[in-house]
Amino acid sequence: MKLYGVIGCPITHSLSPLMHNDAFKNLGIDAYYHAFHVEKENLSDAVRGLKALGVAGFNVTIPHKTTILPLLDGLDVSASVCGAVNTVVCENGKYIGYNTDGLGFIHSLHQLPKQVLIIGAGGAARGIAVAFLEKNIHADITNRTIEKAEKLLTDLQSNGKTVLLSTAMKQLAKYDMIVQTTSVGLNEDKSPLSLENIHKEAIAIDIVYKPLITTFLKEAKQYGATTQDGLGMFVFQGALAFEKWTGLTPSIERMREVVLQKLGGKECLTVNKNEV
Ligand code: ATR
Repeated sequence: MKLYGVIGCPITHSLSPLMHNDAFKNLGIDAYYHAFHVEKENLSDAVRGLKALGVAGFNVTIPHKTTILPLLDGLDVSASVCGAVNTVVCENGKYIGYNTDGLGFIHSLHQLPKQVLIIGAGGAARGIAVAFLEKNIHADITNRTIEKAEKLLTDLQSNGKTVLLSTAMKQLAKYDMIVQTTSVGLNEDKSPLSLENIHKEAIAIDIVYKPLITTFLKEAKQYGATTQDGLGMFVFQGALAFEKWTGLTPSIERMREVVLQKLGGKECLTVNKNEV
């Protein structure tokens, strides 16, 4: 049996084990996927331990997506360009980092935006910002720690602007898409900023999928905007990781269904990969 998993902190909320174990079973693959709680200070021990135990691949989530880079044996271009890893594959005994967040996010969109604001400057924000750049869209970034947003844009050689959270709240109406990538709202009743000034034609997307309807999305809806929850990106990034580990394509529909059932809700917006 092959072993896979996800490392993160917090991690108990993760529905990756449910989604991947169901896909393994459905495709008749002898494998098991486990969620590992790994504190920041234990990351390097954890990576060494996973390798020593022969773990064949794993996902990486908050807060390790950028700090794991120097601990890996190599990076695929998808990870080196954005400087963040969400998927690790064991190739000939070496751990190689990939990023499926950006492509997973793009696959979840119905249409591409013109003016984007990304809230957050962590690993997920990096993956998404790169995916937009590949479509020639230079997203603006706002973050609690503005220096991290500046570094993100410099690293990516993006023409997007950094915007203070307080300024972003006032200028929200100029964006037709606002993407919430921070861990605020993950199992808590909070939003990183007020959406009072959001444009009614805009779409607000939260990449947090638990809860499915976050405070950020509730507020966006209340101010008349369209909303998209984090389920689409979660499923697509997971399916892309699954393909890298097994060489097989899982059923997107089944993955979505299994997670949606567990969350006991309806998606804000259905996902259609073919339109983008
Ligand atoms: P990862 O790299 O795995 O995505 P991360 O680097 O910890 O994780 O990024 C988490 C993001 O959530 C960051 O943008 C972080 O803001 P800071 O750069 O200021 O730390 C943001 N974040 C986390 N907790 C937050 C909070 N309570 N309020 C606002 N932003 C928060």
